[in-house]
Amino acid sequence: MFPYNQSRPRRNRKNPAVRAHIQEHHLTVDRLMYPLFLVQGEGVKEEVSSLPGNYRWSLELLLKEIESCMNLGLQSFVLFPAVPEDFKDKVASYSYAEENFYLHALRRIKEEFPEACLMTDVAMDPYSSDGHDGLVDEYGQILNDETLPILSKMALAQAQAGVDIIGPSDMMDGRVAHIRQTLDQAGFGHTSIMSYTAKYASAFYGPFRDALDSAPKAGDKKTYQMSPANSREALIEGRLDAAEGADYLMVKPALPYLDIIALLNQNFELPIAAYNVSGECAMLSAACEKGWLDFEKAMPEMLMSIHRAGAKVILSYFAKAYAEMAKAGKIKF
Ligand code: PBG
Repeated sequence: MFPYNQSRPRRNRKNPAVRAHIQEHHLTVDRLMYPLFLVQGEGVKEEVSSLPGNYRWSLELLLKEIESCMNLGLQSFVLFPAVPEDFKDKVASYSYAEENFYLHALRRIKEEFPEACLMTDVAMDPYSSDGHDGLVDEYGQILNDETLPILSKMALAQAQAGVDIIGPSDMMDGRVAHIRQTLDQAGFGHTSIMSYTAKYASAFYGPFRDALDSAPKAGDKKTYQMSPANSREALIEGRLDAAEGADYLMVKPALPYLDIIALLNQNFELPIAAYNVSGECAMLSAACEKGWLDFEKAMPEMLMSIHRAGAKVILSYFAKAYAEMAKAGKIKF
């Protein structure tokens, strides 16, 4: 005999109207931040081969791209510079140099689009001849405390260019406090910090390093980025960043670390951000290109999983595609 079943979860799935009543999460475009790569020059729009649909833009074309995003309701951007090899040195001095094209571009973007929210990256790697996020000594060691003043100078130069949020992605100990103090003393108490709190030594950054030509020249990043085998360190990093004055705690990558997003969300009051990194996007794009996955279904599902895990803000190369789909009324679960 069939047992009497008083609970039938399927009743709450029976039609679109009922499914809409019980939908727990909605991912709106205003939670998305769009990473963009900037190069020096004019008329440049070069596709990043390992990240289809993403480009290295020169400023004038980037301004048009930003405008088209703003028209879709996408108004938060994370900007990264692709720095020519000749401008790189051991101490990343170009990162805060007067003539830095990236800093000039940030000012210009803010002038053109004052309502856009701009975030910058603070780490030495795009400017370092060693390709590391910190200062490298003669034995190949990464020098933590010697790196902090460089990061602070970089952060201050970006704040002076008018950006809204500074994103330290270097994983040096004590950098949030150092940057916070530097910004406050210079009158930039209003500039936010989104700390890359739990940043893993991940294989999923490959396409990003291609885009910026910023891979380490020797060694790897395991002495500063976290091990994929660990979660408890994320709590230590979160506690430190919160105490040091971070405004958001970020987990990176996102998809292979949904448990870490949930862990930080449960343990801290600060908003959690997640970076759906280049390799995650490349992986999905490649499968869709082959016809193995349906982009318009799989991409929103991927972003929703990150939001459901607890991320309030999501940095994703799919932000514009999502905004386009949202505008066309195509985001349906
Ligand atoms: C720089 C930085 C990296 C990313 C963001 N900031 C690369 C790295 O740490 O090697 C990766 C982003 C992505 O893969 O999309 N420190």
